[in-house]
Amino acid sequence: MINFVSEQNRINRNKLNKMKVTVVGAGNVGATCADVLAHREIANEIVLLDIKEGFAEGKALDIWETSPINLYDSRTIGSTNDYSKTANSDVVVITSGLPRKPGMSRDDLIATNAGIVKTVTENVIKHSPDAIIIIVSNPLDVMTYCAYLTAKIDSSKVFGMAGVLDTARYRSFLAMELNVSPKDIQAVLMGGHGDTMVPLPRYTTVSGIPVTELISEEKLNEIIERTKFGGGEIVKLLGTSAWYAPGAAAAQMVEAVIRDQKRIFPVCAWLQGEYGMKDIYLGVPVVLGKKGIEKIIELDLNADEKALLKESAEAVKGVMDVLDGMNLINA
Ligand code: NAI
Ligand code: 2OP
Repeated sequence: MINFVSEQNRINRNKLNKMKVTVVGAGNVGATCADVLAHREIANEIVLLDIKEGFAEGKALDIWETSPINLYDSRTIGSTNDYSKTANSDVVVITSGLPRKPGMSRDDLIATNAGIVKTVTENVIKHSPDAIIIIVSNPLDVMTYCAYLTAKIDSSKVFGMAGVLDTARYRSFLAMELNVSPKDIQAVLMGGHGDTMVPLPRYTTVSGIPVTELISEEKLNEIIERTKFGGGEIVKLLGTSAWYAPGAAAAQMVEAVIRDQKRIFPVCAWLQGEYGMKDIYLGVPVVLGKKGIEKIIELDLNADEKALLKESAEAVKGVMDVLDGMNLINA
């Protein structure tokens, strides 16, 4: 359903090239994402919202106070759970929820984070019915499903951030191993945001050179394994999950939407027959632009790649079933 007043406001802002982004959750990932958005002037107004009294205001003020140093004028505003401040956002990033602690899997977070994502999505949609929503909270694929069921808007406008981060980890490890610039490494990674994710060597190149021509199979397999457990590696080191790369990854997706860049990224998207799968959120390559997911790209996977993707989809489906079993959405 289109809210005509908010749609008109959005069009007016677009005419003035004024874009508004809300980041829900002012913790490690949310604040980093807001900082990158501001620093790179991706939006004119960035609202940071958190449930913890004064927390988002403090983070937003601290970020704003870097503007004279970093020379930008994107305005960062904080809010303690007051969604009226988020009204008519063009894009909303949802990072609210608990992060992983050592020994926890992403799926352990489901019960708590599903309740949070549901409430947050309801509030977001009430105030920004036309927004594009990017989910970051874990377990990612299932929290994206939770937001989609709650938001009741087109799936092209509700999607999740994981593949951009996982691919960045894969690319950064390859850059270290090959002693080349990470800028020159292109790769595709598919599947769920978990240990069953599927990095695809056949679609990995270094300035157009197939990676398999530059690295041994054994080394490449080591890097693929490290990528799959890349989130856990940081949890072990820090005692909580990563934030610099996740925050930057979410900001890069926001930028693709706000600037209508038509970037091709691996994104957690709602599949309706693509890759032979239906009614599942899974990481696949898509074109991201101002309408959100503008196209899902179907790669011609070989039998081994298809088997790995199927295994990953089954793992995600198992957790989606847990969410369905909680009957949370219609409650
Ligand atoms: P954090 O604990 O630093 O921040 C989470 C924030 O959410 C807290 O400030 C908390 O007060 C807030 N919050 C909780 N309930 C809320 C509500 N109902 N409304 C508004 N705010 C609320 O956690 P961090 O490290 O920022 O991680 C956030 C989430 O992102 C976690 O679920 C984590 O697992 C996930 N994550 C996902 C990644 C991905 O690739 N998709 C990568 C890294 C983290
Ligand atoms: C990460 O991959 C834990 O999902 C989080 O860093």
